[in-house]
Amino acid sequence: MLIELQNIDKYYPVGREKLQVLHGVNLQIEQGEFVGIMGPSGSGKSTLVNILGFLDSKYEGKYLFEGHSVSGLSDSELSHMRNRTVGFVFQDFHLIDAATVFENVQMPLLYAGIPSKKTAGAVAQALERVGIGDKSKQRPNQLSGGQKQRVAIARALINQPRFIIADEPTGAMDTKTSASIMEILSDLNKNEQVTVVMVTHDPTLLKYCTHQIKVVDGVVQKGTLKP
Ligand SMILES: Nc1ncnc2c1ncn2[C@@H]1O[C@H](COP(=O)(O)OP(=O)(O)O)[C@@H](O)[C@H]1O
Ligand SMILES: [Mg+2]
Repeated sequence: MLIELQNIDKYYPVGREKLQVLHGVNLQIEQGEFVGIMGPSGSGKSTLVNILGFLDSKYEGKYLFEGHSVSGLSDSELSHMRNRTVGFVFQDFHLIDAATVFENVQMPLLYAGIPSKKTAGAVAQALERVGIGDKSKQRPNQLSGGQKQRVAIARALINQPRFIIADEPTGAMDTKTSASIMEILSDLNKNEQVTVVMVTHDPTLLKYCTHQIKVVDGVVQKGTLKP
C-alpha cells in the first residue's frame, strides 16, 4: 500500500475556536492509481491533499506511507520526504518568475543535493517528456497557461516521485488546453505507473481516473471507477 490514512481529524484554529475540516478520514491509495478528488468548494479537498503531500503535519490520526508512519516526523524529515517522494502541480503553477524554465525544473534536483552540472540531461529529458523541449531558456511569463503547467509537471517529475498531487491543475484552462494537460498526466499514469492524486471540479475529467474520492463537509469516501 502506497498511502494509508487512519482516522484523520483536521482542525484549523479560527479565533479562539477550532474549526474541524476533516472528520475521521480513512483512505487507502495503491501505487498506479489515478485518483480524482471531487467535492464542493470548502469541503476540505486541498486540506486533504496537503496532508497527503506532507505539506501539513498538524492533524490527529495516523498517516502510513509505504507502511511507515510519517505522523511523528520533524519538519526537516518531512521536507526531505517531500523532495524524494512527491511532485506537486497547482492551478496557479507556483513557478518562479525570475528563473528560467530550465532553472525551475532543475530546482528539486539541487534541493536533493545533485551538483548543478549533473542536472542538464535530466532537465532536458523532463522538458521533452512534456513537449516543451524548446522552451528551456524562456521565463514563465513568456509562456501560455498550458505551457506553464507543462513546466510545473516537468518539475514535479524531475525527482521521479512515488506520486503526483495535482490540485485543480486545469482549473483555469480552456477545454482544449485542459485536455492536453490531462493527456500528459494520463500518459504518465498508464505508461510509467506514476500514481496521480488530482483535485478537480470538472466531472468530465473522471474519464482519466481509475478511482474517485468524494469529499463532502470533510467526510471522505472513495470508490472505483474502472475494473
Ligand atoms: N489555513 C486555514 N485556516 C483556517 N481555515 C482554513 C484554512 N485553510 C482552509 N480553511 C478552511 O477549511 C475548509 C476547507 O478548505 P479547503 O481544504 O481549502 O477546501 P477545498 O479545497 O475543498 O475548497 C474551508 O472552510 C476553509 O475556509
Ligand atoms: Mg481547494
